[in-house]
Amino acid sequence: MSERLEEIAAAMVAEGKGILAADESSGTIKKRFDAINVESTAENRRDYRELLFRSTEAMSNCISGVILYDETIRQNAADGTPLVEVIKATGAIPGIKVDAGAKPLALYPGDTITEGLDGLRDRLAEYHRLGARFAKWRAVIDIDIAARVPSAVAIASNCHALARYAALCQEAGIVPIVEPEVLMDGGHDIDTCYEVTKAALTKLYAELFGARVLLEGTILKPNMVIAGKKSGRQSSPEEVAEKTLKLFRETVPVAVPGIAFLSGGQSDEEATANLNAMNAAGQQPWRLTFSYGRALQAAPQKAWAGMAENVAAAQAAFSHRARMNSLATLGQWRP
Ligand code: 13P
Repeated sequence: MSERLEEIAAAMVAEGKGILAADESSGTIKKRFDAINVESTAENRRDYRELLFRSTEAMSNCISGVILYDETIRQNAADGTPLVEVIKATGAIPGIKVDAGAKPLALYPGDTITEGLDGLRDRLAEYHRLGARFAKWRAVIDIDIAARVPSAVAIASNCHALARYAALCQEAGIVPIVEPEVLMDGGHDIDTCYEVTKAALTKLYAELFGARVLLEGTILKPNMVIAGKKSGRQSSPEEVAEKTLKLFRETVPVAVPGIAFLSGGQSDEEATANLNAMNAAGQQPWRLTFSYGRALQAAPQKAWAGMAENVAAAQAAFSHRARMNSLATLGQWRP
């Protein structure tokens, strides 16, 4: 595996492959386990994540990298092999979530700022020793037009933090995934999502430029341009593809090697169909792939339900979604 940032980034968006986001914080994974009636113990979290990483064929053919949480990057498989080595044996690259979560932005009700810059240089050095070659930092931008959310200050503060994080990553030999997530939870329409995402991406690339970040050694992890869930309207894959691609042409430099979408609460199949529609629209300056959490894991979590006898079924469910999304990166998925 190359140690050059550009080559790591290129491998993260290799043809037909995408990223498995398995970096749920302890609070988030507990919510996921609650839904399947599984107690969130360190051992259960290990067993669940190990079954994903040991889905060898899907991992080798469809998954370029795995985003881990701090606990997981230090954990061993049941047979004592570090999980990082299990991942590397499939050819996938281990990555690590390094932000400390979104906190309320002082004096701006409804806005959040992602924390985690203090001490980040030392943490990145340790994660590099543990095997991580890329990292993730997620900024959260909610939309509530009546409440004037997001404010310009929230967008600027989050993009500045993303740029400081990205520079520290590159200094440590780690490729930063920059994730400014405009949430799809609100009641806004697709054009409002377009406008807010445009403001965020415009600011993000100005900040990355100012911080001297090498764009060739970064991956963008954005939301798709899509109507809010509470709008009562579901955007069609064609509409999502058209507006998302238009926005990227306007805002994302061609030096960026790849764009790996979050699923953000879309259903499994919706996330696949939307990615497929973008890749079916023809050649783009960047690879367009997935960095899905829920859209890859909802099915295997349900199939597993915490039972050892369901491991094969859970692996089959995960492998199926990974294959469908791999096809979508090529524009070859069919419902
Ligand atoms: P979802 O695909 O579930 O949105 O998660 C991706 C992720 O890593 C969000 O930060």
